[in-house]
Amino acid sequence: MRILTGIQASGRPHLGNILGAIKPAIQLSKNPDNESFLFIADLHTLTSLKDGAKLKENTYAIAAAWLACGFDADKNYFYRQSKLAGYHTELMWYLNCFTPFPMLANAHSFKDKSEKLADVNAGLFTYPVLQAADIMLYDAHLVPVGKDQRQHLEMTRDLGGAFNRQYGEDALVLPDAKIDETVMTIPGIDGQKMSKSLNNYIDIFLNEKELLKVVKKVVTDATPLEEPKNPDTDNVFKLYSLVAKPAEIAEMRSNYLAGGYGYGHAKNALHAVLVREFAAEREKFEYYMNHISELEQKLQEGEAKAAIIAKQTIERVRNKMNF
Ligand code: ADP
Ligand code: TRP
Repeated sequence: MRILTGIQASGRPHLGNILGAIKPAIQLSKNPDNESFLFIADLHTLTSLKDGAKLKENTYAIAAAWLACGFDADKNYFYRQSKLAGYHTELMWYLNCFTPFPMLANAHSFKDKSEKLADVNAGLFTYPVLQAADIMLYDAHLVPVGKDQRQHLEMTRDLGGAFNRQYGEDALVLPDAKIDETVMTIPGIDGQKMSKSLNNYIDIFLNEKELLKVVKKVVTDATPLEEPKNPDTDNVFKLYSLVAKPAEIAEMRSNYLAGGYGYGHAKNALHAVLVREFAAEREKFEYYMNHISELEQKLQEGEAKAAIIAKQTIERVRNKMNF
């Protein structure tokens, strides 16, 4: 089965991305029956981020994070969308001509973004069509995404369906979304959903000192040190529970309930388990960020492999269209 997913390069990868998206996708890619296509959606990112240096830096950090978390780029497909822009945008154009204007105008994510952002550009409007092209260009069967992407996947199937009604059912492969409802929403340091846009995220690849600074910012209530505390409503405990071992979690729970254990202690413990549990990933991330040429090489190899598949699909599609 072909599994495909794209990640925007709008910021650095954080604990929520890692536990909610990166680790589960890597798990799926380890199945020998699957081929995984993993790409950095830098053309999509351009809708919101115009600074080329920043975009490049984020792209490398995201690529390094996937490799550090164990993605096997040699067995799978690992590439930047911009390096295959000719194919992606060509298929996008064909799909554009099958896209009813109201479908885009009424899309949740467009409505949301157009209310919030100052820069409401046409790229933002046609964003879902590019996403549909990203997916169908590689004949992907399954697309693991977060709940917020459900509508984009429905549009992909609609556009693929309309195209196939015109040019034949074997023109494009219609993908299924894989939305894992059981994946927890990882809370940020303020207790809301951890997100780049809320600036409440934990970047586990920071150096130990910087990481401690972020962990110290986790919001707690004002219960004094000596009093018992409720672990179930506390953000430090919630985050600790996501990474520590069961016996450690039980121990922290009883410390909270007993009193005489402060949030400062809990934060130090959280910092220590983050450093310990992600030790291998942190080391590899650091390695790749200091050896950008190796990252570049892996991406370029992935791009050469992906181009072969993209070209085949585009040629099939052009034939169907009599172009
Ligand atoms: P952000 O909200 O930080 O911009 P993205 O929208 O780029 O994150 O999300 C990339 C992937 O990471 C998506 O698959 C998304 O579902 C997952 N993800 C992001 N934040 C969280 C979170 N707090 N908990 C679980 N998964 C998350
Ligand atoms: N829109 C997706 C997001 O913001 C990123 C994306 C672009 C994508 N193209 C894709 C995801 C194709 C899956 C498949 O998260």
